Parts: sequence; C-alpha cells; structure tokens
Amino acid sequence: MKIIYDFYTEGRENIRPTLIPVQADTVELWHDIEAACFQASWGMDSCRDFLSERTNHVWAFSLDGGETLIGAAALQVLPPEAELLRLAIKEPFRRHGFGRQFMTALIKWLRDEGVNRMWLEVRVSNEPAISLYESLGFERNGLRKRYYKNNDEDAYTYGRTI
Ligand SMILES: CC(C)(COP(=O)(O)OP(=O)(O)OC[C@H]1O[C@@H](n2cnc3c(N)ncnc32)[C@H](O)[C@@H]1OP(=O)(O)O)[C@@H](O)C(=O)NCCC(=O)NCCS
Repeated sequence: MKIIYDFYTEGRENIRPTLIPVQADTVELWHDIEAACFQASWGMDSCRDFLSERTNHVWAFSLDGGETLIGAAALQVLPPEAELLRLAIKEPFRRHGFGRQFMTALIKWLRDEGVNRMWLEVRVSNEPAISLYESLGFERNGLRKRYYKNNDEDAYTYGRTI
C-alpha cells in the first residue's frame, strides 16, 4: 500500500499516524472497518460502487505506518466543495484524539486539492460525532427529516469553510 501522508504527533513519538488511500484492490480493508464501526454499515457492493466514482475518495487511518488500520473516511471531492460521507475510528482507539487528528489531516489534503468548503450529515443522536465536528469548527446549517433509511432518523447538516 502506498503511504502518502504522514504527520507528527506531539508527545506520541512512538506512533506514526498515516493516511492511506483505499482503492478497488483494497476495498475489503475499508469494508472491515465499516462493519466494525457502524450499525447500518455499507455492504461490499456499496463500498465498491462508491470507489468506482472518480470524484470519490476513501482514506484508511493507521498509527504504525500502514501495518494496522484503525479507521477510515469516505469523501466526495468536487473542488471547491467536498462532502464527508463516512468517518470511523475503531474501538479501542476512540477518545484518544485520533478522530480529530485524522480529520485535520484530511482537511489539509482537501485544501491541497483546491477545496474551500466542506459539508456533512450526521445522525441527530450521534453525540460523539456532533461534538467532534463542532470542536473542529463545523456549523449546523440544516435538518433533513428521516434522512437515514434504516431507522428513519433525522440528519443535521454541517458545513465549514476550510
Ligand atoms: C465519531 C468518531 C469518529 C470520533 O472519533 P474519536 O477518535 O473517538 O474522536 P476524538 O478522540 O478525536 O475526539 C475528539 C472530540 O470529539 C468528541 N467526542 C468523541 N467521542 C465522544 C464521546 N463518546 N462523547 C462525547 N464527545 C465525544 C469530543 O468533543 C472530543 O474532544 P475531547 O476528547 O477533547 O473531549 C468515533 O466515535 C466513531 O468512529 N464513531 C462511530 C462511527 C460514527 O458515528 N461516525 C461519524 C458519523 S459518519
């Protein structure tokens, strides 16, 4: 796997967080993270379909230079805009600041791609994700009624200039 991103973590010199691009030949790795992190996870066909679109990008997160994957993000990138569709950190790696760090790295990558506006939807009950997005400066700007088909849950929409 090709590693194209690397960032230093202050006080955690022994770990090496990296962003690793997921492609068609590594889709199983992303699917495993999906299944582990979401109740309404995307199936293998949805993961493959998503990756087949030129504008879609999936990044896996690693703390050991790519040996082990601890999470992933899926984005649709249409500069100057991008939508975050999935973000996941596997247990037991949650609540260690990695979600925020990987989001920050993704935002830096998006800027390099010419994106200046990012948006996302989140379940109204998803307090950890809402708290993470708000701490990163995302602002709530809408409500989509019954957006999630599995349980008819509403979604908040959030956006941020990056
Ligand atoms: C949302 C998610 C990605 C957060 O990842 P994480 O690595 O645990 O987040 P971090 O440790 O970087 O936390 C950053 C901030 O998010 C918020 N947060 C994270 N987990 C939280 C929790 N369980 N309860 C409340 N706030 C939480 C806090 O504001 C936290 O800052 P703090 O630690 O200074 O209080 C993770 O919980 C996850 O994968 N959830 C399942 C999948 C999901 O719901 N994805 C988002 C919707 S697509």
